[in-house]
Amino acid sequence: MSLLKCLRTERRNRCVEKMNCLVVAALALCALLPNAHCADTTIAWCYHLPSCNDTTWPVISTKYCNGSRQSPIDIVSSSATADSNLTAFTFQNFGSTTAMTKIENTGKTIKVTFNSGVGVSGGGLSEAYDSLQFHLHWGNGSSVPGSEHTVDGKRYPMELHIVNLKSSYNGNTTLGIADSTGLAALGFFIDVASGDTTGQPKSWNTLTSYLSNITESGQSVSIAPGISLDDLLTGVDRTKYFRYLGSLTTPACNEAVVWTVFKEPIKVSKNLIDLFSTTVHITNSSSPLMTNVFRNLQPAQAVTTQAQSSSSSTSKTCYSLGLMALSLVLGRN
Ligand SMILES: *[C@@H]1O[C@H](CO)[C@@H](O)[C@H](O)[C@H]1NC(C)=O
Ligand SMILES: *[C@@H]1O[C@H](CO)[C@@H](O)[C@H](O)[C@H]1NC(C)=O
Ligand SMILES: *[C@@H]1O[C@H](CO)[C@@H](O)[C@H](O)[C@H]1NC(C)=O
Ligand SMILES: *[C@@H]1O[C@H](CO)[C@@H](O)[C@H](O)[C@H]1NC(C)=O
Ligand SMILES: *[C@@H]1O[C@H](CO)[C@@H](O)[C@H](O)[C@H]1NC(C)=O
Ligand SMILES: *[C@@H]1O[C@H](CO)[C@@H](O)[C@H](O)[C@H]1NC(C)=O
Ligand SMILES: *[C@@H]1O[C@H](CO)[C@@H](O)[C@H](O)[C@H]1NC(C)=O
Ligand SMILES: [Zn+2]
Repeated sequence: MSLLKCLRTERRNRCVEKMNCLVVAALALCALLPNAHCADTTIAWCYHLPSCNDTTWPVISTKYCNGSRQSPIDIVSSSATADSNLTAFTFQNFGSTTAMTKIENTGKTIKVTFNSGVGVSGGGLSEAYDSLQFHLHWGNGSSVPGSEHTVDGKRYPMELHIVNLKSSYNGNTTLGIADSTGLAALGFFIDVASGDTTGQPKSWNTLTSYLSNITESGQSVSIAPGISLDDLLTGVDRTKYFRYLGSLTTPACNEAVVWTVFKEPIKVSKNLIDLFSTTVHITNSSSPLMTNVFRNLQPAQAVTTQAQSSSSSTSKTCYSLGLMALSLVLGRN
C-alpha cells in the first residue's frame, strides 16, 4: 500500500529522462507546503525501470525503504502464532452503495476514494480507524500474478488494499505516517474464479467498466451509486486473517502500518482481472500499460492469526520460540 495513495495532498509531475515514471512528493513535508516548494522534496520511483524500480528504493528513499519492518512479506502460515485478541472487525458503511466516490488512475495504481463515514474497528486494532481509499496491485493478466503479499510462497493474481487512518487523527495523514500504528491496511487477495464466470461478480464488472474512462495518469471519474465495499469483498470470511506490523509498500515506505491480510481471496473472473493490465497506462496512451505494479518481498516479520481450536502444541511452541528470537533481533515491541 502506498503513501502516494493514502495522502490527499499528492503531487505529480512527469519524470525527467523519458523515464515514464512519476515524481511523487515527499508528502510528509509536502502536505504542509504550497506546490512550488514541493518539487525540492520529491522522490522519483517506479516499478518498471532499472533506474527507479523497487531494488533502488532503499537507495533513493533511504529513510524508511531501508528499514527493518518493511512490507510486503511472504506469510508462512505454519509459523503464524495464535493471538486471541484477533477478534472480528466491525465495518462501518461497507454496505453503503454511495460510499465510493471517485476512481482514479494515479500512474502507479487504480485508486478508489471514499466518502467520510466509512471505517473499521475491532479486529485487534487499538482504536477505530477511518477508511480513506482502496487501490490495487497486479501483475500482467491472470497468468502473471502480482499480489504484494504471498502465502506459503503463493502469489495471487491481484491484491486490494483498503487504507485506514486512526480516527483520532481526523484525516491528518501526516500524523498517521509518524505513528507506528497510525495506519491500518486491509489486504484482500484476488484469485481467478473457476468455471464460466465471464463478467463476474457483477460488482467487479461495474468497477472495471470505469477503467476505459481513466486510461491515462491523472484521469478520474465519479463512481455512480450502486456498488458497495461489501459487494466487492464478496465471498471472503473476514474473521480469518493474518496480522503483522509493517510498512507502506511504496516510497517513502513509512513503517506505520498495522497489516491485516485476509486468508480467503475474492474470486473474480479472468476477463475482468485481465482488464487491469490491458486498459490503463502509466502516463498517456502512448506510454506502457500499467503492469507488474507490486513491490518485491521483504524480510519476514512475526505474524499472528486467530487461535485454532485444534493444532499441534509441539509445533506451536517451536514456532513461538523462533518468533520470540526474531522479535528480539528486530527489536519488535
Ligand atoms: C506521452 O508521454 C510521454 C512521456 O511519458 C511523452 O514523451 C509524450 O510526448 C506523450 N505523448 C503525448 C501525445 O502527450
Ligand atoms: C531493477 O533495477 C535493478 C538495478 O537497478 C536491475 O538490476 C533490475 O534488472 C531491474 N528490474 C527490472 C524488472 O527492471
Ligand atoms: C541499508 O541498511 C543496511 C543495513 O542496515 C546497510 O548495510 C545499507 O548500507 C543501507 N543502505 C542504504 C542505501 O542506506
Ligand atoms: C492481547 O492484548 C492485550 C492488551 O492489549 C495484550 O496485553 C496482550 O499481550 C495481547 N495478547 C497477545 C497474544 O498478543
Ligand atoms: C504482458 O503480457 C502481454 C500478453 O501476454 C505481453 O505482450 C506483454 O509483453 C507483457 N508485458 C510485460 C511488461 O511483461
Ligand atoms: C497535521 O498535523 C500536523 C502536526 O500537528 C500539523 O502541523 C498540520 O498542519 C496538520 N495538517 C493538516 C492538513 O491539518
Ligand atoms: C466513460 O466513457 C464512456 C464512453 O467514452 C461515456 O459514455 C461514459 O459516460 C463515461 N463514464 C463516465 C463515468 O465518465
Ligand atoms: Zn497497496
